[in-house]
Amino acid sequence: MDFKTTKLLHGGDYNPEQWLGRPDILKQDIAMLKESGCNVVSLGIFSWSTLEPEEGVFCLDWLADVIDQLYENGISVILATPSGARPKWLGDKYPEVLRVNADRHRNLFGGRHNHCYTSPVYREKVARINRKLSERFGHHPGVILWHISNELGGDCHCPLCQDAFQQWLRDKYGTIEELNRRWSTTFWSHTYQSFEQIESPSPRGEMGLHALNLDWKRFVTDRTADFLRCEVQAVREGGSELPITANLMYYFQGLDYFRLAKELDIVTWDSYPTWHKQELIETAYDTGMCHDLMRSLKGGKPFFQMESCPSSTNWQSVSKLKKPGVLFAQSMQAIAHGGEGALYFQIRQSRGASEKFHGAVIDHYGGSDTRVFREVCQVGETLQRLSELAGSTVKSPAAILYDWDSQWAMNDSQGPRNDGLHYHETLLKIYRGFRRQGVNVDLVDMGCALEGYRVLVLPMVYMFKEGFAEKVRAFVEQGGQLVTTYWSGIADDTDRCYLGGTPHGLMDVLGIRSTEVDGLYDWEENELVPVAENELGLSRTYRCKYLCDLPELRGAKTLMTYGRDFYAGYPVLTEHGYGKGTAWYVAADAEREFYADFLKLVLKRAGVPETVCGEIPDGLEVTTREKDGVRYYLYQNFGTRPVRVPLPAALVEALYGDPDAELAVCQLMVLKEMIQAAE
Ligand code: GAL
Repeated sequence: MDFKTTKLLHGGDYNPEQWLGRPDILKQDIAMLKESGCNVVSLGIFSWSTLEPEEGVFCLDWLADVIDQLYENGISVILATPSGARPKWLGDKYPEVLRVNADRHRNLFGGRHNHCYTSPVYREKVARINRKLSERFGHHPGVILWHISNELGGDCHCPLCQDAFQQWLRDKYGTIEELNRRWSTTFWSHTYQSFEQIESPSPRGEMGLHALNLDWKRFVTDRTADFLRCEVQAVREGGSELPITANLMYYFQGLDYFRLAKELDIVTWDSYPTWHKQELIETAYDTGMCHDLMRSLKGGKPFFQMESCPSSTNWQSVSKLKKPGVLFAQSMQAIAHGGEGALYFQIRQSRGASEKFHGAVIDHYGGSDTRVFREVCQVGETLQRLSELAGSTVKSPAAILYDWDSQWAMNDSQGPRNDGLHYHETLLKIYRGFRRQGVNVDLVDMGCALEGYRVLVLPMVYMFKEGFAEKVRAFVEQGGQLVTTYWSGIADDTDRCYLGGTPHGLMDVLGIRSTEVDGLYDWEENELVPVAENELGLSRTYRCKYLCDLPELRGAKTLMTYGRDFYAGYPVLTEHGYGKGTAWYVAADAEREFYADFLKLVLKRAGVPETVCGEIPDGLEVTTREKDGVRYYLYQNFGTRPVRVPLPAALVEALYGDPDAELAVCQLMVLKEMIQAAE
């Protein structure tokens, strides 16, 4: 079931159970929500002990009252299931619900994320409260979406989870011999005789069997998805048919989000960038790429920013205030990358407990005459003005491969550099290369369809799952432009190295074979030197660091060579025509300017039209969204000074901002182009 909204969402987590003794505050909250243009709040995320103070004793009237009052004032509700934190009575009476850590010690009650996803008791208690909430509020006209739990994550190593893991392995491998073969257990005498002997990875025991670690991570994702399904089933049993979401986290490595997103109707995520730690544009690219990842998890369907901090968090190493305009810029960026809304954590600042100093829309002072509140109002006003953007989607000609299994395996394996592979920076350099051209980018995993993209980049795709190389081959054959980097196609689904040469299955497509990989010390550098009159017309020399792969040519042409070391003169950038497409191999960790120049040429070769006319100034983000025959151009200035924006070639009208004026830092401009008659 899809989640559809006709307006852009603005609001945030609201925890009124902290203020039930203060009706004056609840009243004031509603007034301030209205004043700031908030049209939605997330309720009940951590309310379990207020909703069920004793086992089987349910107190839902206060929540009904809050939902009614919000509804009467035009504010919708995203209603949470409360499983993210449990009441004390539950942990005391049923200790099995508490998590066991990798050391095999059971946690005491406390914190959040402290429950076993397998425990039948936990599942039963969660299902019961979910059913109650669904029965009571599932048909309330003010409730628009379910928020399942909170930031699902973590694992449990209790005996129940061990049994479930063994069963998961039995289902996957059938026989213990097959598991031993796929896991390469003969090495170091790790051979198992039965599934019952297998235990989850532990620092007190097995940590070096990479396939075990990998399957454990996959199992944890499946367990979490299974738990989520139980939660949803209870909501459905209670009678509600509303769509569901779960709030995901920034590049979270604990769960395979492509897999988890299959269980969700809409993806939402919590965005807490460390603005001002570096130049705004650097943080903007990193956050923008995460928005694009979240949008891609369900193939471009709507998503939104569920949480963000209106001022400073209280958990980052330094609690930096957002400088004026940055809250606006962050919220608008969530929209510019295709989001349907920008929400905060939290509406009213807590008076006590762990997050009392975390920024909020309404702070301890409580008035509307604060800098933060005024900025929230500005966001609210702007989102209202941009409401026609709701439901528009992002079309991307380029995709970057981002696969959890591959990353898990790569990060776990000890290889050419154990001192940092700089994977995330590499992704960002490539991403930035596209974004500098104003080109929208999707992040896809190996299961995603590749048709429809003109350019595909495989950055350090260490694992090639079964069938993936064939899929990529078909992409190039049919005219796709493929860029593959070093450290790709090395291992299979269970982290066994491919025999017979790498990148496995693509050597003929790329026209090369990777022979050896040199890991560089942090202080070392090499360079990419252009070959005279190379095919792409590259003319600059670029630096490279960390990893240098030495490819041997098998039909490809050399465009650039290494400048130093014993492999000076060896190919470092190659090009090979295959079918109707082209395949490039980037053999070293090149500096970002290389990617900016190189990808510009690749896009040109792919026939991707320029988004706007002329250079996009450094610091300016240009994205597009489309709906009903209209293309929207969204410009955001994350630079250090006002800039003139390069306009699209076609005739446009301004929806927000003035195209003839300079765009100030942190400001937004939105232009509209009619691309075809609406259907
Ligand atoms: C999120 C969490 C919220 C709140 C917030 C503070 O990760 O979902 O409940 O703790 O962080 O930044």
